[in-house]
Amino acid sequence: MRLIPPPVEPFRIKMVESLGWTTRRERDKLLQAAGFNVFGLHADKVLIDLLTDSGTSAMSDRQWAGIMMGDESYAGARSFYRFEKAVRGIFGFTHVIPTHQGRAAERVLFETVLGKNSAVPSNIHFDTTRANIEVRNARAVDLAGAAAYDPDALLPFKGDMDTAKLEAFLDRNGGRVPVVMLTVTNNSGGGQPVSLANIQRVAAICRRRKIPFFFDACRFAENAWFIKQREKGYGRWSVRDIARKMFSFADGATMSAKKDALVNMGGFVTLNDPDLAGRIKNNLIIGEGFPTYGGLSGRDLEAIAQGLHEGLDEAYLEYRTRQVAYLGGLLDEVGVPYFKPAGGHAIYVLADRLLPHIPRDRYPGWALTVALYRESGIRAVEIGGVMFGRKNPKTGREVFPELELVRLAIPRRVYTASHMIFVAEALASIARKPEQVKGIRIIEEPRFLRHFTARFEEID
Ligand code: F0G
Repeated sequence: MRLIPPPVEPFRIKMVESLGWTTRRERDKLLQAAGFNVFGLHADKVLIDLLTDSGTSAMSDRQWAGIMMGDESYAGARSFYRFEKAVRGIFGFTHVIPTHQGRAAERVLFETVLGKNSAVPSNIHFDTTRANIEVRNARAVDLAGAAAYDPDALLPFKGDMDTAKLEAFLDRNGGRVPVVMLTVTNNSGGGQPVSLANIQRVAAICRRRKIPFFFDACRFAENAWFIKQREKGYGRWSVRDIARKMFSFADGATMSAKKDALVNMGGFVTLNDPDLAGRIKNNLIIGEGFPTYGGLSGRDLEAIAQGLHEGLDEAYLEYRTRQVAYLGGLLDEVGVPYFKPAGGHAIYVLADRLLPHIPRDRYPGWALTVALYRESGIRAVEIGGVMFGRKNPKTGREVFPELELVRLAIPRRVYTASHMIFVAEALASIARKPEQVKGIRIIEEPRFLRHFTARFEEID
């Protein structure tokens, strides 16, 4: 493998955690016991865990110091006010409502705004956002442009919403839309950014029709970094100013702090409308907690307040996005196909292209997650036929999503360049003898979100 220069990690390591080494023989047994489902593995038997970038960040010395300063008062804790100040300073909205994680922020928002026949458009909804809408008998509608589904188009902003589709949708359904969302970056579409131009257009459409516009802001800092790098006119702006500008077009945001706020747990809703904020707070008290702590400890609020600032640090963001692109570059060298360009937080391998001998109904993406663990103890997540395949109730046949992906999500500040080389080598070794990877069959599946608990077997 030819070495591309790796990004230099802009930190040094003060505390370390041992990795879980296993032998191939052990991994074979562990896979059997887990029903060939990597969600069923014990994490200490995983060497490099790329299952998610959510809640898996390494916190800084300053965040840990903040944790020692946490004020655990039930009401009015000092830590809440510090958290509120950090969120207000970056997002610019008046009301800041903490929740225990992103999906809780979605729940308190949607329980407050959705009616029975409501519909909520987004570029592409993340699964929990979609579930929080659909569970209330409302519709979650994806309106990303065609590029979001094209793994080969080398375009800068494949997360953009198709605003013509949005206009057409609102012409037909405007009265039923309580809020329009934009997911930044677009996790379900290759971790691709949304441009400021697109944000501005979506906002103008919403304003004209008096529909509130909210961000799903989990990875807003990575999105703002891409705007600085790729969008004309923003190269000299600070990422913080770009983020502020992004949010200036919206009425509010939900956020899972487990991503760009560099913490292990937490989230929030932030918005301007005082009436809506009041109703959300009433809901919050029932399910999450008093409005100055949501579902969080005071120490968690401290860690988020600090993490939000660190997530906007430009030396960090340069390293962060370059690390993901570095892994992509290594995969280019060894001929492993992936969704291009590299995303902000993950590389999405095109499993059906890597394993062309496995048909879609033998789940090539899932088979690749099994092979990657067996090969080298690496855990990734399938985003393909098992996660999104749906049986057609009339024909009984399974309908598959457009893309068959395996996401290698990179936890923030956790792994080094040599870990990335190790991951690329594992994939290279699979790519050298792809026919050795077997297709799989589902032997047991629950009714909802089957990928978490289904059991499988390999087909010889
Ligand atoms: N929105 C997006 C875009 C997400 O990626 C996630 C979580 C959430 C909302 C929900 O946040 O987990 O704090 O409740 N994504 C994780 C992932 C789980 O692996 O992509 P949460």
